[in-house]
Amino acid sequence: MPQLTILPSGKTIAASEGQTLLELILAAGENIPHKCDGNAKCGSCHIFLQSGRKSVSKLSPLENEKLDSIVGVGSKSRLACQCRITGTEDISVELLGFGSGL
Ligand code: FES
Repeated sequence: MPQLTILPSGKTIAASEGQTLLELILAAGENIPHKCDGNAKCGSCHIFLQSGRKSVSKLSPLENEKLDSIVGVGSKSRLACQCRITGTEDISVELLGFGSGL
């Protein structure tokens, strides 16, 4: 079972296959926006996947399209609601600063 580390707080939570990063981040008590409730429509759950790429589902065309419309996207950008746990390697994600207008 992979462990998810959430930065910058450093909180950790055990992840199970099939859960989304959004579910896990919320379960860890972190405050992450998710305006469209996980439908890849709002982009507010944008995070940086710092490590553990192999443990989460691949970028879907829908997610890719939404990310393309967000300012400040980088090579590690993902939508937390679209990343499902698929592997066993530990994962770390970085939450973006709030109040950035996203
Ligand atoms: S919650 Fe809206 S895109 Fe993830």
